[in-house]
Amino acid sequence: MNLGKKVIYQAYPRSFKDTSSNGIGDLKGIEEKIDYLKTLGVDMVWVNPFFVSPQNDNGYDIADYYHVDPLFGTDEDLASLIKTFDKAGIGLMFDMVFNHTSTSHEWFQKALEGDEYYKDFYYIREGKDGSYPNNWTSKFGGPAWNKFGDTDKFYLCLYDKTQADLNWHNPNVREELYKIVNYWIGKGIKGFRFDVLNVIGKDGRFIDSSGDIGEEKKLYTDTPIVHEWIRDLNENTFGKYDDIITVGEMSSTDVHNSALYSNADGRELSMVFNFHHLKVDYKDGDKWTDQAYDFDKLRDILNHWQREMQGHGGWNALFLNNHDQPRANNRFGDVKNYPKKTATMLGQAIHMMRGTPYIYQGEELGMTDPNYESMDYYRDIESKNAYEELLAKGVGEASAFKIISKKSRDNSRTPMQWDGSSYAGFSDVSPWLKVNDNYKKINAKDALDDEDSVFYYYKKLIDLRKKELVISDGLYFPILKDHPHIFAYIREYEGEVLINLNNFSEKKVEVRMDEILDSYEEFTYLLGNYGKKDMEKTITLNPYESLAFIKRV
Ligand code: NOJ
Repeated sequence: MNLGKKVIYQAYPRSFKDTSSNGIGDLKGIEEKIDYLKTLGVDMVWVNPFFVSPQNDNGYDIADYYHVDPLFGTDEDLASLIKTFDKAGIGLMFDMVFNHTSTSHEWFQKALEGDEYYKDFYYIREGKDGSYPNNWTSKFGGPAWNKFGDTDKFYLCLYDKTQADLNWHNPNVREELYKIVNYWIGKGIKGFRFDVLNVIGKDGRFIDSSGDIGEEKKLYTDTPIVHEWIRDLNENTFGKYDDIITVGEMSSTDVHNSALYSNADGRELSMVFNFHHLKVDYKDGDKWTDQAYDFDKLRDILNHWQREMQGHGGWNALFLNNHDQPRANNRFGDVKNYPKKTATMLGQAIHMMRGTPYIYQGEELGMTDPNYESMDYYRDIESKNAYEELLAKGVGEASAFKIISKKSRDNSRTPMQWDGSSYAGFSDVSPWLKVNDNYKKINAKDALDDEDSVFYYYKKLIDLRKKELVISDGLYFPILKDHPHIFAYIREYEGEVLINLNNFSEKKVEVRMDEILDSYEEFTYLLGNYGKKDMEKTITLNPYESLAFIKRV
């Protein structure tokens, strides 16, 4: 399979389309929008977890991996969705949350009842010196341990306290997880996204960390056994088929391990998500800060991962947006003065790189962060915890709120804007999370009626990836590596050369093409968000302009 020709769309079911009038999106809603997805031209749709769950972390706390949560519909709805997608030739990618289960899962409940077999499914440990078993911290704030029932023991929970980390050292756990993947393969599922897969390999000694968060993560991230377990997972499940796409979500990983996880030898996964390029607006590694993004860092990290993954046989998932990130348009562009140019420029910057692009719902419309007025509008557990922690640290209410409004995961989780009717056509009742006020200006209906819309630009980008081998298969070479505003690269495939220039600023910027390309005159226009331009010795890029030229053989 040529992964370079695939484009994957992400549907966050809660916010995609509500057909049951409960204010929450559902599986029928995804099925209903099949024609929209076909028009866009994507190959596969990653659907975030819709399995039975208490929903403390919007479905990433799974209580039953085999059945649909009634919030999102029924098992019959899922069977119908699978059938419809199959007919349309669009694959479905399921989200396998295997680092932890909900504490409501039967395994954890049995463990609580004292069943020794299931107790060994989790990390349950004695406290130390009247406190927790070690000093690790949860990624959602507070200690990484929580009291195990009314015993004097604790269970490990690296995320919310209702998400108990699974003990992968126990082969019975691994067998259960293989069963789940095989069950869904049997139902025709062609894609799997594995949630935070590189933190499954905890060192069972659970030694204290130095207190430095970077050092602490090393105690449970990218440990060598993770590769072993992913290879076993591969051999026992999806590795037996050649038409299944897998992606590992890798938390605080490095490029060396990522090249192994996604190596072309096929022993582990098809590709990985890494997040280093999205931490460029963190201050000293802290997400919960109000910090302008660092363009140099963004460009350098993107270039580094492109080069290193290429050099070591790895494969990148390409993305700037997902359900855990504020909208890239707000972070890296100017949504006030250049909303469309921002959205199309960011799209073109990503879609011409080496890897498999992911489009997060609404990105293809140019959706933006909402302007919520108070904390009352936020629903996300991580954001709420972070707000409380900021206040506890002494940050004032107004400043804490400003940080949340920039960094909250709810920024991208606002309901999909289908049209200009009430609730943006997402639902006919008030949705679980408030719709962005700009839905009358930004919505799918208008975008489909306007040939100059962001939607059709994305469609062009997808078409080009399918047509042009230089995009799907070419090598990647960064250029203008020190430019203050431009992110640019060359792709090369058997003599064919593509150059893609992206202006990340509101300034007009001149670029000397004769200094970059040997025979610039031989290049012709391929795509740009300011329309057709001829190749010239000096090119002026407008604010947030993207411009690609190609030299054919
Ligand atoms: C990553 C998921 O994308 C995120 O939404 C979730 O909260 C954590 N993993 C924990 O499962």
